[in-house]
Amino acid sequence: MKKVRVGLVGILRNARGHGVQCQLNKKVQIAAGCDVSAAGREQGLKWYGVPMYASQAEMIKNEKLDAVIISTPNWTHRQLSVEALKAGLKVLCEKPMSNTLADSKAMAASVKKYKGFLQIAFELKTCPIMLEIKKIVDSGAVGEIKHIHFLQTPGQKENDWKVSQKLSGGLFIEKLCHQIDTFRYFLGDMKSVEVYHGPNTARHYEVMDNCYATFAFKSGAVAHISFITGLAAANEGLKESDYPKYGHSLRYDFIGSKGSLSYSYWDRSLMVCKLVKHKDGSWKSELVSKKVFKEYSAAGLYESFVYQDSDFIERVWKGKKELFTAQDSYKTMQAAFACEESAKRNKKILL
Ligand SMILES: NC(=O)c1ccc[n+]([C@@H]2O[C@H](COP(=O)([O-])OP(=O)(O)OC[C@H]3O[C@@H](n4cnc5c(N)ncnc54)[C@H](O)[C@@H]3O)[C@@H](O)[C@H]2O)c1
Repeated sequence: MKKVRVGLVGILRNARGHGVQCQLNKKVQIAAGCDVSAAGREQGLKWYGVPMYASQAEMIKNEKLDAVIISTPNWTHRQLSVEALKAGLKVLCEKPMSNTLADSKAMAASVKKYKGFLQIAFELKTCPIMLEIKKIVDSGAVGEIKHIHFLQTPGQKENDWKVSQKLSGGLFIEKLCHQIDTFRYFLGDMKSVEVYHGPNTARHYEVMDNCYATFAFKSGAVAHISFITGLAAANEGLKESDYPKYGHSLRYDFIGSKGSLSYSYWDRSLMVCKLVKHKDGSWKSELVSKKVFKEYSAAGLYESFVYQDSDFIERVWKGKKELFTAQDSYKTMQAAFACEESAKRNKKILL
């Protein structure tokens, strides 16, 4: 079996997850890696025992690669992915596409120009729990989805580039693009977005940390995000299993014409209800099923490299197309940037 020769672009932090998946995948040969930091290159050599370069350009020049996995800060994605596409490599690039909409557009355009393969890491579309929810929705069990609500109350993050408005692109770019992409996955094209935000609770954040967004869809459905950082205890060392007790929520609620579906990550539960007509003429939600997962990682319950990366490798190996196009990811980015604009201008933005 000819293995897929992968170059890892970026070694530390999030990139390690991709590296581990590559090490576990029998169809992959990690051929080389690159990182701008010496610490990254040193660590990469220890983890993978392959040549490490200071730039992707140098790596591409010296190694025979089939694909690269880019996991570097947002503002580097355009340059790196276009460079790799130009060299004829298949690319899996971390979300968001970039910290600017212009860069995101250029990335989608270069896929056309080089007839390339660029997949953005919107991994929820390969995550088993999302696929299970999609299966239930597609079965018609809860009817037509009219409303999706996403609630997240995380703890505050450290003071790095992810909380810088300019470097990250903003909360909706760096973080909530996953949810916007998921909404589009279930509800199709959007019409408009509108964001309200209160004062930040984390004083070291430039990005919003206390806001509400409403998305209107062409189908007439609506979706909401409530993102509140001020609620949860962010104590270092808190066990994930204790999160629900300390104010952390991470849940999706789907409201359909015939019932509803709720998925709560920290409670590890998936609940389906259907609307039943009672003798007195009233309609009430009744529980159809409630599944409680034993472990967080067992079913790839939320964000997960496992399924996304193996899907990417399988596609490269078989010479298949991307799971979804860069143009589709660009539409998600358009909506995410519209959210930032809506918050800034205090107005609804039409898409
Ligand atoms: N899919 C997800 O859910 C998820 C989760 C976390 C992070 N991310 C994304 O992953 C990306 C990386 O995040 P991070 O926190 O690991 O970033 P980071 O700042 O820790 O950088 C990661 C690595 O990239 C290296 N690097 C920086 N510029 C480079 C360049 N031009 N060429 C080669 N290497 C370079 C750094 O030295 C570092 O080792 C971001 O885009 C982030 O949004 C995605």
